[in-house]
Amino acid sequence: MALKDTYGRTVTNLRISLISECNLRCIYCHAEGEVNPKEQMSTEEIAELMQVAAKFGIRSIKFTGGEPMLRPDLLDIIRAVPPGIESSMTTNGTLLAGKAAALKEAGLSRVNVSLDTLRPDRYREITGRDQLDRVLAGIRAAIDAGLTPVKLNMVLLEGINDDEFDDFMEFVRGNRNLILQVIELMDFHGCKFHGDVDGVERDLNTRAEQIVTRRMHHRKKYCLDDAEVEVVRPLHNTEFCEFCNRLRVTSDGKLKPCLLRSDNLIPIRGKHGEDLEAAFREAVSIREPFFR
Ligand code: 5AD
Ligand code: SF4
Repeated sequence: MALKDTYGRTVTNLRISLISECNLRCIYCHAEGEVNPKEQMSTEEIAELMQVAAKFGIRSIKFTGGEPMLRPDLLDIIRAVPPGIESSMTTNGTLLAGKAAALKEAGLSRVNVSLDTLRPDRYREITGRDQLDRVLAGIRAAIDAGLTPVKLNMVLLEGINDDEFDDFMEFVRGNRNLILQVIELMDFHGCKFHGDVDGVERDLNTRAEQIVTRRMHHRKKYCLDDAEVEVVRPLHNTEFCEFCNRLRVTSDGKLKPCLLRSDNLIPIRGKHGEDLEAAFREAVSIREPFFR
């Protein structure tokens, strides 16, 4: 039983927001489209929806937030991922050190760590907190625990971190456990610091030995001889929508057919069995590309 929408796009990835709260305050944060703290799904509700996802042939689940590591039941949630589904997590990394091994043992494959700068003063400016050292320790712990490849999510911000691309390249160079992921800023609430992603891509085009377009994954992958860089462009990439294979779940239990819309959510709280399956089918049936 596969989840195919009316545009022929099969949903294979589920992104589950586990919590809307975060311990950082990034200036650009889209909070996966969530704004206010809401009543979050229980461990059991999440386990049940993952079972339904497995029935529908979902192949990978990404846990997001807010900051998913703020959930006390995170390990139980990971343990409840059905066999055959790969799970990963996007985290700000501040709580990773000391927990990475347990995450791996519970079954998590790998992590994305949000890291926009390698400079402490800028880290504070961007996130509102002095946590860079903890994040760097978290990244090391994740690598040691085998939560790899660790992807570093760098949102390119004009005048804030766009001069650090070379430093990031240097940071990942020669370390096969690290992949740099440059992300184009999405302007959700007047954050106007759009970095020059075109410039980064031009630079990479001249340096890369191989360029792979991974349409199903919304990204272009640049393979250099000693580093790997991915560029994710949600806004300047018609393929972002054309090949979108994702369905989101908000932390308060609603299916979200499109990252860029919040007016067509399908509530699943209190739904079980066939009702829950019907909600999945409905959410997929109303999916339409944001950019056509
Ligand atoms: N634009 C682009 N990416 C964003 N993220 C959060 N807000 C935005 C935004 N406005 C991404 C960051 C972070 C992840 C949780 O979501 O890469 O790592
Ligand atoms: Fe938002 Fe992630 Fe930053 Fe937290 S760490 S404020 S969720 S972008």
